[in-house]
Amino acid sequence: MAKTPKRVAVTGAAGQIGYSLLFRIANGDMLGKDQPVILQLLEIDNEKAQKALKGVMMELEDCAFPLLAGMTAHSDPMTAFKDADVALLVGARPRGPGMERKDLLEANAQIFTVQGKALDAVASRDVKVLVVGNPANTNAHIAMKSAPNLPAKNFTAMLRLDHNRALSQVAAKTGKAVGGIEKMVVWGNHSPTMYADYRFATVDGQSVKDLINDQEWNANTFLPTVGKRGAAIIDARGASSAASAANAAIDHVRDWVLGTNGKWTTMGVPSDGSYGIPEGIVFGFPVTTENGEYKIVQGLEIDAFSQERINLTLNELNEERAGVAHLLGQ
Ligand code: NAD
Ligand code: LMR
Repeated sequence: MAKTPKRVAVTGAAGQIGYSLLFRIANGDMLGKDQPVILQLLEIDNEKAQKALKGVMMELEDCAFPLLAGMTAHSDPMTAFKDADVALLVGARPRGPGMERKDLLEANAQIFTVQGKALDAVASRDVKVLVVGNPANTNAHIAMKSAPNLPAKNFTAMLRLDHNRALSQVAAKTGKAVGGIEKMVVWGNHSPTMYADYRFATVDGQSVKDLINDQEWNANTFLPTVGKRGAAIIDARGASSAASAANAAIDHVRDWVLGTNGKWTTMGVPSDGSYGIPEGIVFGFPVTTENGEYKIVQGLEIDAFSQERINLTLNELNEERAGVAHLLGQ
């Protein structure tokens, strides 16, 4: 018997990432090849954006995806998030000329406050929320705080693109296939302060750290390459990463829903106090997932270099959180 369709809400649906993301969701890449989906697409209340969204929907129709059981266009999160099982919060205000980081934080904080409240009011009580829009960790924190009637653990931020970038860099360095690498971790914020950590990683069962055996490469090539990859792509393409970001969003939600079979991945999740990260800070952690739930991998040794890197990215998240505290009534 066919499964009941899942409702997937996507914000910023007419944007760059949306254009790579929606077709893959409708193709069953995210929730499974036997799982029908209904797309509930949110764009800003602006004629140009809504018209562009209609165009994307026409193309979705023209793909005749067997799993696409329906789709609707919205300009109000209260209708877009109604009964949503999954919400991908992609739409956010990008940094414009003359804008300071603080201005971006504030503009987006307002968007994610409104959207968190709407999720709280109308989404499925089990909704799985992935925040992609930057600054992703802090936006996820804001949405979570704005939705007190939903479990905090339902709110996550996307570190998976950083995780995938780290895998590819390590594969290139070791000359091994990317698919053989396990136990990669990216700690912290989706920003250049993130700490991509291959100390526990193995490739085809061998220790990556032993194979590379080059702390200078780790500190001065690997970490800056992964940390600044987003900027390198903007520089090369004249636009920020879109297909790889959409791919990472698919990976994140697919693993959350369908499980990792004991393998590690990275998700930005509200801390439960693990590794000394204050509770509620949305932080990149190594996780395993099973039956639709993630668990932070416990008991990893944090050496002095790693602690310093973790403190750096945590300090940045604390600053971001302080910058929006007034909007959350804190
Ligand atoms: P884009 O500008 O092409 O598209 C964003 C879309 O969001 C636009 O169509 C805009 O109209 C819409 N939008 C803005 N505010 C909205 C709101 N309140 N409600 C609904 N829609 C809204 O941008 P993009 O390239 O698709 O990137 C989207 C976001 O994802 C950016 O913040 C970008 O920095 C971020 N990003 C994050 C990662 C990550 O790894 N976490 C990776 C790449 C990009
Ligand atoms: C990325 O990592 O590619 C995105 O977050 C875009 C950016 O602003 O770097």
